[in-house]
Amino acid sequence: MIKLLAAAAIAASLNVIPAPVSTEVGDGVYKMTGKKNEIVLRVDRKLDLPSKEGYVLTVDARGIKAKAPSEAGLFYARQTLNQLIRPDGTVPYVKIVDYPRFAWRGFHVDPCRHFLSVEEVKKEIDILSQYKINTMHWHLTDDQGWRIEIKKYPRLTEVGAWRGEFEGGTHGGYYTQEQIREVVAYAAERFITIVPEIEMPGHAMAAIRSYPELSCTMETVGNFANWGTSDLVYCPGKETMFTFMDAVIAEVAALFPSEYIHIGGDECPKTRWAKCPDCQARIQSEGLVADEQFSAEEKLQSYAVRRAETILAKYGRKLIGWDEILEGGLSPNATVMSWRGEKGGIAAALEGHDVIMTPGSEGMYFDHYQGDSRVEPVTIGKLTTLEKVYRYDPVPAALKENGKQQHVKGVQANLWSEYIYSDAQRDYMLFPRAFALAEIAWSPVAGKDFDDFCRRVDIACRLLDERGVNYHIPMPEQPGSSLDRVVFTDRAEVSFKTTRPMKMVYTLDGSEPTPDSTPYTGALSFTEDAVIKIASVTSYGKLSPVRTVRVVREGWMPACGVRVENLHPGLRTRMVWGRYVLPSDIPADAAWEYGMVKGLKELPLQEPYDRSMQHTRFYAIEAWGYVDVPKDAVYVLSSVCDQVWMDGRLVIDNGSDVKKFSRHDNSLALKAGLHELKVVFLSNVIGGWYSSRGHGDLMYRRVDEEEFHTFRENRVFYE
Ligand code: ACM
Ligand code: ZN
Repeated sequence: MIKLLAAAAIAASLNVIPAPVSTEVGDGVYKMTGKKNEIVLRVDRKLDLPSKEGYVLTVDARGIKAKAPSEAGLFYARQTLNQLIRPDGTVPYVKIVDYPRFAWRGFHVDPCRHFLSVEEVKKEIDILSQYKINTMHWHLTDDQGWRIEIKKYPRLTEVGAWRGEFEGGTHGGYYTQEQIREVVAYAAERFITIVPEIEMPGHAMAAIRSYPELSCTMETVGNFANWGTSDLVYCPGKETMFTFMDAVIAEVAALFPSEYIHIGGDECPKTRWAKCPDCQARIQSEGLVADEQFSAEEKLQSYAVRRAETILAKYGRKLIGWDEILEGGLSPNATVMSWRGEKGGIAAALEGHDVIMTPGSEGMYFDHYQGDSRVEPVTIGKLTTLEKVYRYDPVPAALKENGKQQHVKGVQANLWSEYIYSDAQRDYMLFPRAFALAEIAWSPVAGKDFDDFCRRVDIACRLLDERGVNYHIPMPEQPGSSLDRVVFTDRAEVSFKTTRPMKMVYTLDGSEPTPDSTPYTGALSFTEDAVIKIASVTSYGKLSPVRTVRVVREGWMPACGVRVENLHPGLRTRMVWGRYVLPSDIPADAAWEYGMVKGLKELPLQEPYDRSMQHTRFYAIEAWGYVDVPKDAVYVLSSVCDQVWMDGRLVIDNGSDVKKFSRHDNSLALKAGLHELKVVFLSNVIGGWYSSRGHGDLMYRRVDEEEFHTFRENRVFYE
C-alpha cells in the first residue's frame, strides 16, 4: 500500500512542522469516521529509536496507528497526526519514523520586564508543545521585577514585584507558588519541562530593593524602571547572599521538578565589588588572584557561581548559566547557555561541558526586529528574520571538527520583554519564528528547504488565526530604509521588498488594498504626487498592516545666504532641567540656560550616565545654527531626537514614540550649502528607554544611496 513518492509530492501533501525525519507517503487517504479503534496509540518501551521522544506513525486503509518508546513520543505522534488531518477529515496514507535532533528544544519567557499572566504562559506552552518544543526557560527574577512568591522572603513580591513607571502608573505582578504548581503541571501534561531562572549575582535590583542587605553598600534603593544593566548587584563578600540563595533555591526546587535550575550569571558589572571591603576580604580569604586571563572580581563571580552549584547540589539539581559563567573559570559540572554568539558554547563544549546554543547573533533572540525598524514596532534592535532563524545550525563546525558535537544538548530562542508592551506584541515576536525554532531543534539538517518551510508556515499561521493569536507578516519595505514621505523634483522611483518572498498588492487611488488589488511587480515611477497604499498578502489572502507612502513633488530648498566665513563651528543651545515627554510640555517661562555644543552627539550627554539611574536628572535641550549640505540632492533625513527643523520647517517629529530607533524619517530636496537647523532633544524615559543612552545625531543619505552618513561637527555652525 505504501509507496515512495517524489520529494515534491511529499512536500505538496504534508504540512508538518517540524519536518519529520523520514516520511513515506502512500497513494490514498484514510477518511476519519470517529469509529472506535480508528486511532491506536501505544507505548512500546522496547521500540528501538534514537530517542525516547521518537515515534512511528502509520496511516493506511486500516486506520491510524502510532507507537513510541515513551508517553512523550506518543504525544508527538499525536501532534504530527493533528497536522496531517485535512479539513475534510482525510489523512494521507503515510509511514513516519520520527525523533528529535536535540534533547533540549527550548523557549524562554521573560515576565520580569513586562509581566504576562498565567493564561498567557499556558497559551504559549500549549501552542509550542504542538510543535514538539519541550523546555520552557522561565526567567523569574531580574532588575525590574521579582516574579515568584518566596514564602521566606515576602518582600521580594510585596516590594520587588512592582515598579512605578516614569510615565506614571505601576507595572508588575508575580506568580504565587500555587500558580506555579499549576503551570508546571500544565506544562508536564504537554511534555514541557520548566527550567526556572533565579538570577545571580547581577540583574538583582528587585531583590536588593526588597532586601538592601543583599548589596555591597546595603543602601536603600528605588525603582529600576528602565532597561539595561544596573551596577548594583548582590554582594558575594557577605554570607547574607548565600543564606538568601539557599532559602530561595529550597523553595524553587520544591516547585520545579526540572533537573536543571538556571542561575543567570550574565551581565554583572563588577565596579561595586572592586570598592567593597567585604568583597575584597573574600577575594583575599579565597585566594582569588588576578591573572592574565581574569581579574580578581571575575574570579569572585566564579566563586559565587561555585557556591550556587553547591547549593543546587544540596537540592539535587544541576546548574545552568549564561556564558559569562565561563569568566573566572567554569564550575565543574555547569552547563552553559551560549548567548553572546557561539564562542562561549564552543569553549565550554571543548572543555567537556554540556551547552545549549542560544546565540543572539545567529537568530536565537526573538526580541530582535523581523523587518525594517522604520516600519516595525520598536524592539531592542538588530534583525532576526524568519529565514535567519531557519538557517541556524546549533552545532558549530568547530565542535564537529573536534568530535565534541554531542555536548550540544539543544537550542533555545529567547524572547526578552523590554519592548513587549502587550500580549499581542509578544505573540507577534514569537510567531512565526518559533516554528523555525521548532524545526531546527527537531528536524535533521539534511532535509532543510526554506521554500517548503515557508509554505508550511502559512498553514501553521492559519491555525494561529483560528485561535486568535497574533503573528508577524512581513511588510513592504523600501531598499535603504523605509519612509512614508518620498520627495522628488522631476521623477520618483519607489520600490519595495519583503524579508521573505511575499506577494505585495497596492492601490494608487487612496482606497485600502485588498488581496485582489494590483500586484506589485517592480519599481513604481511617478512624475506627479501620489499616495501608495501597499501591503503584503499571504498565500491564504491575509494582509500585513497597510503602509501609506506619500510621493510628493517639491521645489528645491535653497541654501540660505549666510557665509561660512562669518560663522563658528558648533551649535548654540539652551537647556532646562525637567522631564518632558513632548517639546510642547516645556513651559513658556522655563529657566533656560544658554550655551553651545560642538556637535549634535553632545545633546544626550548633558547628564552623566549612572547605570542604576537612582539620581538621574532629566532635561530638555535645543540646539540651533546651520548645517552644511554637501551637494544638491534629495536627501533622506533620520534622527531619534524629538524634533528636527530645517529652514524653519518641522521635518522630523518623533512625538511620544520610544526613541530608540527612528520611525519618522523624511525626505527633502536640498540645495548644497548652509541651511538653518534646529534640533530638540528631550532626556527622558519612555517605554523604559532612557533617551540619553541613544545618540543625538542627524543622519542623512541621498535617496539613491543605501547607507546613512552623519552630519558631523565639521558640518554644523552658529552665528
Ligand atoms: C542575556 O541576554 N543577557 C542573557
Ligand atoms: Zn560586596
